[in-house]
Amino acid sequence: MALHNKLRAIFPSCFASKSKRNPKRRVCNQHSCARRLSVSDISDPGSPLSVNNDLSNSLIGSNLHIFTLAELKLITHDFSSSSFLGEGGFGPVYKGFLDDRTRPGLKAQPVAVKMLDLDGTQGYREWLTEIVFLGQLRHPNLVKLIGYCCEDEHRLLVYEYIARGNLENQLFRRYSISLPWLTRIKIALGAARGLAFLHGEEKPVIYRDFKTSNILLDSDYTAKLSDFGLAKDGPEGDDTHVTTRVMGTHGYAAPEYIMTGHLTTMSDVYSFGVVLLELLTGKRATDKSRPSREQNLVEWARPLLKDFHKIDKIMDQKLDGQYSTEGARKAASLAYQCLSHHAKCRPTMDKVVKTLDNILDLKKDIPFGPFVYIVPKEGKNVDDDHGDHLSLKTKGHVKEKFKKVEELEKKGNGCKCSRNGHRNKHKNRSRAVYSDTALYTTLKKGLNLPEAKEFNQNMHKD
Ligand SMILES: Nc1ncnc2c1ncn2[C@@H]1O[C@H](COP(=O)(O)OP(=O)(O)OP(=O)(O)O)[C@@H](O)[C@H]1O
Ligand SMILES: [Mg+2]
Repeated sequence: MALHNKLRAIFPSCFASKSKRNPKRRVCNQHSCARRLSVSDISDPGSPLSVNNDLSNSLIGSNLHIFTLAELKLITHDFSSSSFLGEGGFGPVYKGFLDDRTRPGLKAQPVAVKMLDLDGTQGYREWLTEIVFLGQLRHPNLVKLIGYCCEDEHRLLVYEYIARGNLENQLFRRYSISLPWLTRIKIALGAARGLAFLHGEEKPVIYRDFKTSNILLDSDYTAKLSDFGLAKDGPEGDDTHVTTRVMGTHGYAAPEYIMTGHLTTMSDVYSFGVVLLELLTGKRATDKSRPSREQNLVEWARPLLKDFHKIDKIMDQKLDGQYSTEGARKAASLAYQCLSHHAKCRPTMDKVVKTLDNILDLKKDIPFGPFVYIVPKEGKNVDDDHGDHLSLKTKGHVKEKFKKVEELEKKGNGCKCSRNGHRNKHKNRSRAVYSDTALYTTLKKGLNLPEAKEFNQNMHKD
């Protein structure tokens, strides 16, 4: 009963009867709310918010809209291939447009609608975890969850639409224009701020799936963390870690987590180090098409990060030398620390934010001067001008190059199309792994770490 009252205080609208629910809900953020509700409150079968109960009567987030499947069909043109944005382990994602024709009082805005693939590897638990975390956490560097749909077996999530899609595509797409140095640092800083916010919560949150495809980029390259399906409440009180099944994505998970299942905020710091290394080198965390000793980016590049004379060798060639040498050295040293095999030697995300803030100020030694950053005008469709982050000097050249890219993509050289007209996933990309054994067996060989007997005992404690 006490828990019921606490929940009623936190999410008053969750306890209103369906007919009385006001679609335009009061916003309840962590400043106005009491203690954040965790997934375990819902997983407990005795809880009034139990997953076994009807969510529409009990759940969550007075700041979230509950959509019908018909509404989401309408705004995505029946989930048509022309609205298709991409697909991950959860399922396909479609673009739609909300306004007060969908629901009176709704702010007119583009949205991304993520639909659970009922035959996929993820499921109801990830959907619920996403709602529990993103329904309660608000920060400029986290993607905003607008609402969800739960009808029969259908499970969907509705987010604010983030104009430039994910960092993975921006950094690795075959014909994409290179992200300039300071844009890369800005992206790293935004993502670091998102993680620092999660780790700094009264009840810390461990994100657990930090990687380039989960970092979305706004029109001005503000980074927004998305995909909270694997997020986990951090240790509380005297506990040093939480013990979980090993989940995450090949190439990004911290070695001690893979070996022991012990999860701390420092596991996220390691994954951040991997992404920072990808930003510096322009290379994917893992890539089987590279020579064998270079296939795992961290194993290949980490030793080189210590030696300032070797840093130029690993920097992304697409940068064409246009970066601050001092900034690159500091960023390399930061990546080196984040990628330490000893979790305790890694910096906190607060420290990472401070260091990146300083690197962003280092502009004087960038050859040809700092790039001119043009803030997109409000309401402008950034897809119409992919070159707006580039220097004025190079813009004409860039537009030419983009024309060529578009032509190649139209011809089908840029991306292959699958049966249903949706783009196939990149064959080299790392996907989230939701099976502990798969990730463990794939990675343990490459780690050169002692076997952890504990691991097997802890595997099923998530
Ligand atoms: N809010 C959003 N705005 C714009 N595009 C989005 C949004 N959310 C997701 N996308 C796009 O949808 C695609 C699929 O994203 P999703 O997060 O489901 O999978 P993923 O991150 O690519 O893979 P994984 O399952 O490994 O996390 C990506 O291309 C992503 O950029
Ligand atoms: Mg994702």
